[in-house]
Amino acid sequence: MPTITVKNTGKTLEAAEGTSILQALLAAGENIAHKCEEGKTELCGACHLFVVEGRKSLSKIQRSENEMLDTLVGVGSGSRLACLAILGTENITIELLSA
Ligand code: FES
Repeated sequence: MPTITVKNTGKTLEAAEGTSILQALLAAGENIAHKCEEGKTELCGACHLFVVEGRKSLSKIQRSENEMLDTLVGVGSGSRLACLAILGTENITIELLSA
């Protein structure tokens, strides 16, 4: 079971492999912006965060995620959308941008 360490708070939480970073953070009571409504096909970009460590363990960035990231300000090489980044087996460290 991978863990997610939130760099901003130093908090580490356990998450299930195969869930998104967003789902895992919300389940743990973390405060993270997420504006996509169910059934909507367009991404909102609100859940943008940086993955500091463990990037390779996450699901690959798909075209829709890349296209949304291209429209955001402050994107870096560790940028992911938390709702689309699926956890693998390894632990990750993230930095929240909306906290
Ligand atoms: S919650 Fe909207 S792009 Fe992730």
